[in-house]
Amino acid sequence: MNKNLLHIPVLVDQVLKYLEINPSGTYVDCTLGGGSHSYQILSRLGKDGKIIGLDWDDQAIEIAGQKLQSFGDKYKIIKSNFASVKDVLLAEGISGVNGILLDLGTSSFQIDIHDRGFSYLAEGPLDMRMSRETKRTAADILNAESQSQLSWIFKNYGEERRSNAIARAVVKKRQQKVIETTKQFTNIIESVTPFVKRIKTLARCYQAVRIATNFELENLQCFLDQSIDLLLPGGRLVIISFHSLEDRLVKNFLNRQANPCECPSELPYCVCNKKPTIKILTRKVVTPSNEEIQHNSRSRSSKLRSCEKF
Ligand SMILES: C[S@@+](CC[C@H](N)C(=O)[O-])C[C@H]1O[C@@H](n2cnc3c(N)ncnc32)[C@H](O)[C@@H]1O
Repeated sequence: MNKNLLHIPVLVDQVLKYLEINPSGTYVDCTLGGGSHSYQILSRLGKDGKIIGLDWDDQAIEIAGQKLQSFGDKYKIIKSNFASVKDVLLAEGISGVNGILLDLGTSSFQIDIHDRGFSYLAEGPLDMRMSRETKRTAADILNAESQSQLSWIFKNYGEERRSNAIARAVVKKRQQKVIETTKQFTNIIESVTPFVKRIKTLARCYQAVRIATNFELENLQCFLDQSIDLLLPGGRLVIISFHSLEDRLVKNFLNRQANPCECPSELPYCVCNKKPTIKILTRKVVTPSNEEIQHNSRSRSSKLRSCEKF
């Protein structure tokens, strides 16, 4: 395998600890990527154990397929958006699983391949679609959305304080020339950003447009809404996120499932009868060790949360 296409998996020991693998269990890896987490899970499964691996990126499916081929029929790879995980499993005749893993974000090879447009560090077409089935590229969004919508995207998906100035600069530049490349987008951001703030602003704006292009938060919410129903009693969910917007969605979702009672606090007992569906296993969010961050700098913003279904 081309070494440039390697993705170093994050928080592997912690994923295995919280999944608490049952050797004859059925697992879903909803973000197969390079297949490294699946490889570790498969290595702990016996002859009756099984993994269904999902990814919506053709390249990920090809790379993971090569990595996992020695496991024979213990795994099945399906090209799908994880927002459809329930339908995918039902089509496979699976109504409950022992564990689900979601490792959000992009694989290193998606970032490192320049014609995919994910990185401000490399020149290429401004695409940023993880799945080729996604209709609009990042460039389409930058060329078509209104100034106020672009500002909303930079502010809400990138937490960028200078969102208005950047959106205004995008609209001004696109009137002169269609925005097609990472270089153009980078130049526009840099033209209205103080030198010392450039790197962080670029990272935030690229993140914002990537989230908008791939509907990342909508897909995550859709997945969360199905996830607990898919777990068998005692089944576990493990989610790794890479930015605060995702982590907030996950944290709020787990808290609601663990404490669903909606009764006013002054009532002496519960009348809504909403019962907890899960136990949260990670009271404190799990983050990588300094050693892991040193070995893999892309792990530095990862955050893991997990729960067990009652
Ligand atoms: C961080 S990587 C996963 C790496 C993987 N755990 C490994 O060990 O190599 C995230 C993967 O999730 C995929 N992905 C992101 N959003 C998705 C979605 N909505 N549906 C399916 N796959 C998605 C990306 O294409 C990418 O390959």
